[in-house]
Amino acid sequence: MIHCSDPPQLLRDVFNDVGDVVQLLERGAPYTPLGGWYRPDADLDEPTSPMWFQNDWVHADFRLEGSELFLFHERVTQAARDFYDAELILPHSVYVNMMAGLEKSGPAHTDNPRFHGRDRSNTPMWLLRMMLWSDLFDRYSIVQATSIWWMNDVEGGGLRYWPDGPDKAPVEHVGEMANTSLVGDNHGMFHQVGPVGPFDQGTRLVTPRAELAPAADGSGDWAVTDRGKVHLQQRLEQYRVSVLWKADVYRDEAEQRRQMADPLSIPDVVDIFNRGLEERGADVRLDLDRIEDLGLIAALNAIYPEAVPVGKAPSIFDPA
Ligand SMILES: [Fe+2]
Repeated sequence: MIHCSDPPQLLRDVFNDVGDVVQLLERGAPYTPLGGWYRPDADLDEPTSPMWFQNDWVHADFRLEGSELFLFHERVTQAARDFYDAELILPHSVYVNMMAGLEKSGPAHTDNPRFHGRDRSNTPMWLLRMMLWSDLFDRYSIVQATSIWWMNDVEGGGLRYWPDGPDKAPVEHVGEMANTSLVGDNHGMFHQVGPVGPFDQGTRLVTPRAELAPAADGSGDWAVTDRGKVHLQQRLEQYRVSVLWKADVYRDEAEQRRQMADPLSIPDVVDIFNRGLEERGADVRLDLDRIEDLGLIAALNAIYPEAVPVGKAPSIFDPA
């Protein structure tokens, strides 16, 4: 089962000098509002984005100078090895979330799955997620370890997570979060960012063009600027800063070779799905000609629903 995982491990005092991370934050600026596959039609000139900013420090074609501090962190890597009882931990992504002024929580979710041969570059996200929830593709899954590191303690800003599965009560990591990392399986375990202060103005919205960066006035503050206007300026420590790290996990090199030699094609996906549907006695079939048909997606979703974790908090992204 790839979507049922052990509780994550909490590491403390992850960096000797958090000043090194502040330098990286400055080098990686500016940060821009979270986009995401669930709101692809956002109007660039409408203030629809909460102050949830993001930037990549490491991805397939890019590595911010100095980000090796996170990418090859020895204790985090060892924690992932221990968590999965795996020899091979291959870190590939580091990205940053910076938040302020979120009156409600983020969405309760599991991170987007990847499979050998299938990821968001070549397969619709709804299909990838349904592949996960159907359990039909476990042997093709690319197991992902995740670490979330927090720079500071802010007003609110906790992380709710479901270490015993979505049908058991969540726990919360909140207070004394500064310089801690939670290492585990965010692709299998639901998690949810709590509300983040300041809370005096509700959830503050900016346009997708807004940027968060060191303030131009030399004060040392960081500012949210949107279409030429400063919307929020405060000390860096008042933003909720978290850095995410992700790595591919293989038991050993033999397992890696075996799995990489067997990538999924789209016809494979259709065959495996439709065999599964037939075995369940369902009438509906996955049909490539109808891959954007909302009726088909809903019918398949009814057969392979995503879990809804108990005790999740209302999200800023819930429909109004
Ligand atoms: Fe996540």
